[in-house]
Amino acid sequence: MGNNLLKGKRGIIFGALDENSIAWKTAEKVFEEGGTFVLTNAPIAMRMGKINELAAKCGAEIIPADATSVKDLENLISQSVKILGGKLDFILHSIGMSPNVRKGRDYGDLNYEWMLKSLDVSGISFHKVMQVAEKQDAVNEWGSIMALSYIAAQRTYPGYSDMAQAKSVLESIARSYGSRYGKLKNVRVNTISQSPTPTTAGSGVGGFDVFLDFAEKMSPLGNATAEECANYIVIMFSDYTRKVTMQNLMHDGGFSTSGITDDLVETLTPGN
Ligand code: NAI
Repeated sequence: MGNNLLKGKRGIIFGALDENSIAWKTAEKVFEEGGTFVLTNAPIAMRMGKINELAAKCGAEIIPADATSVKDLENLISQSVKILGGKLDFILHSIGMSPNVRKGRDYGDLNYEWMLKSLDVSGISFHKVMQVAEKQDAVNEWGSIMALSYIAAQRTYPGYSDMAQAKSVLESIARSYGSRYGKLKNVRVNTISQSPTPTTAGSGVGGFDVFLDFAEKMSPLGNATAEECANYIVIMFSDYTRKVTMQNLMHDGGFSTSGITDDLVETLTPGN
């Protein structure tokens, strides 16, 4: 049972692939809280057909869009406003993909065409979404726009490869567009930097199981789950966070400010 935190609010949720996706959990929570939305994903991801189950459950329509295509985004946003019967109050960008990671290319042997693809899909697409939304004047005053990031934007994680650069771009776009959209329309723009989470995108990163375990031991509250992330996103879409903007919000159980923890000391103590 929700608390109607998003009653009357309309939006678009990008990136629900399967029931593990952060966007999937978010759609369920937003629905529970009274929000209505359009679901979207890349046409290629639709082939799996899973998103239809989520749409049926949430009474949502699905509009395919490749988030790197301005034409697709123009169609998605204008159609969504029509379908939902008014301008948008929230947008979730929950998109990440690197061909270099996916194909196991070494960081010293990157394919630069693929690197540009990583930056476009995982970073620049966030700018495209907002630029199209602004041009169509599709977002209501005090709307909230969120994307998902990872701490590899600030610190190195070898297996994360060019996704680290993509996340830095993403966080920078949130600040720059947040400054613009705040002044223009009182729209806020933030990223959530989420703990490692077992999803399709997460598990694709080399050594994922090891850093899931490391992060768990390094976080006093333990890793944040996809469902907990969805709860945070709901609050960020609600009217309780109207003056939070241009932030990269750490949602990581305390990982990012821990030097070492008792759990790690115990694990690393010789003889244990
Ligand atoms: P996921 O694999 O369920 O979601 C990624 C989504 O991106 C998929 O639905 C995929 O179809 C979509 N996508 C890929 N290319 C696209 C394109 N061209 N146009 C539109 N959509 C496209 O994985 P997850 O973990 O839910 O990922 C969501 C976000 O959370 C991503 O930004 C990811 O980097 C971020 N994140 C994930 C963490 C993890 O450990 N899983 C940790 C921190 C952040």
